[in-house]
Amino acid sequence: MKVLAIAGSNSDVSINKQLVTYASSLIENAEVEIVDMNDFEMPIYKHQIEVESGVPQAAHDFASMIDQSDLLIISLGEHNGTYSAAFKNVFDWTSRIKDRAVYNNIPMFLMSTSPGGRGGLGVLEAATKRFPLHGGNIVETFSLPFFGDNFDKENQKISNDEKDNELREKISKISDLEAILAK
Ligand SMILES: Cc1cc2nc3c(=O)[nH]c(=O)nc-3n(C[C@H](O)[C@H](O)[C@H](O)COP(=O)(O)O)c2cc1C
Repeated sequence: MKVLAIAGSNSDVSINKQLVTYASSLIENAEVEIVDMNDFEMPIYKHQIEVESGVPQAAHDFASMIDQSDLLIISLGEHNGTYSAAFKNVFDWTSRIKDRAVYNNIPMFLMSTSPGGRGGLGVLEAATKRFPLHGGNIVETFSLPFFGDNFDKENQKISNDEKDNELREKISKISDLEAILAK
């Protein structure tokens, strides 16, 4: 199974990248590729750029990486209650590719974390509502609150047993892709 793990952040020390990296490591026999928004840098969406030069190559690259995967695990950083500008820009540009559903119905495990007690629930809710309009096939969601307390930075794993068990249960459900695709 090919897994594309996406951190919706351009921070070099992204906590969402740490979470998505850990989550994807729990899937057995998977070929995992981990990316973040630095891998798809492009100008901020502007109508005139699109008219004059079309959709940037980086958005096509993002789209083709999605198309080549069997499962997407996306962890979104929350800025002011919603997507980081870096993620939103990649989302916006990719949505401008003609005749394309951004997430192409690839099964998706959507998650978020933040240093605060809501664990990025604002962005998780926004994405849960919006992604299905763009081919988002969300099969599971997970949120990790209080990242600093609940994630062991040294060993790069969730340290809160209850949250770790929740994640592991969800990962084991989502790993049964055949059952998901048969639905
Ligand atoms: C501009 C800005 C706005 C933020 N807004 C929120 C917010 O609304 N909710 C929240 O839980 N954290 C918020 N934070 C804190 C982020 O969750 C924190 O920076 C986190 O590390 C972002 O995830 P990342 O490390 O994966 O980029 C904000 C941070 C910044 C810089």
